[in-house]
Amino acid sequence: MIFYYSGCGNSRHVAEQLAARLGQKLVFIPQAARREDYDYALAEGESLGFVFPIYSWQPPRLVLDFVERLRLAGAPGYIYMVTTYGDDAGMADRMLDKVLAAKGLRLDAAFGVAMPNTYVNMSFMNIDPPEVAQRKLVRAEEALPLLARSIRERRKGVELKRGVFPRTKTYAIGAGFNQSLSDKAFHATDACVSCGRCVEVCPLRNIALVGGRPRWNGHCTHCEACYHYCPQNAVQFGRATRGKGQYHYSD
Ligand SMILES: Cc1cc2nc3c(=O)[nH]c(=O)nc-3n(C[C@H](O)[C@H](O)[C@H](O)COP(=O)(O)O)c2cc1C
Repeated sequence: MIFYYSGCGNSRHVAEQLAARLGQKLVFIPQAARREDYDYALAEGESLGFVFPIYSWQPPRLVLDFVERLRLAGAPGYIYMVTTYGDDAGMADRMLDKVLAAKGLRLDAAFGVAMPNTYVNMSFMNIDPPEVAQRKLVRAEEALPLLARSIRERRKGVELKRGVFPRTKTYAIGAGFNQSLSDKAFHATDACVSCGRCVEVCPLRNIALVGGRPRWNGHCTHCEACYHYCPQNAVQFGRATRGKGQYHYSD
């Protein structure tokens, strides 16, 4: 069974590919959490996977919250995570492992896949230049069969990029970032055509159209889906996103 979360499609693609190659069932974490569906039965020795993007060198808070609440019938034979990131993951695997440990479970393996960056809410951050994004996508596609094989063979260990100062990034910067995810700065410019795409793509169902304009309702994880999928590039975050490009995974 694979539990996954994705804002802009990178992690969804990885999760779907793995599920298809490994013949595993997929569960979309935000949907399960909305239904308060935390009870799952595993076949004897079944593998248990978590696939998600890195948010400020941590697993997204909603992923950790879900794992905290998860109740499993049946003992998994192998537990792994696959995370997608623009650059590096810091100590994100240790954070997931800690939450699992509190339930008497341990991560056997942590894998990382570099994919195009989606974070644009700070003035100095932008999407990758097209050639960098394309290179990452080609490499990720090449890596997927090997990744599936590693999981099938139940390989143990950590195969992700931690980057420099991983502890500082995860436990200091990441902790601050993931505690203060206000959506107050999101707004739509006059380019908005009220198409409702932002409402559709928000994995947390946090956006409603009010008077034809999107309204963010305070339950946001900054996944950037509303920004990146907007066909008019009308969704902005304060002044930080002005003039920036858009990216989301597309087949
Ligand atoms: C809120 C946020 C924070 C991010 N933080 C990091 C980070 O700390 N390190 C990194 O390499 N990439 C970071 N990224 C980039 C994403 O992890 C990466 O683009 C990922 O593949 C997006 O996955 P998705 O398309 O499934 O949402 C961040 C993206 C977002 C939206």
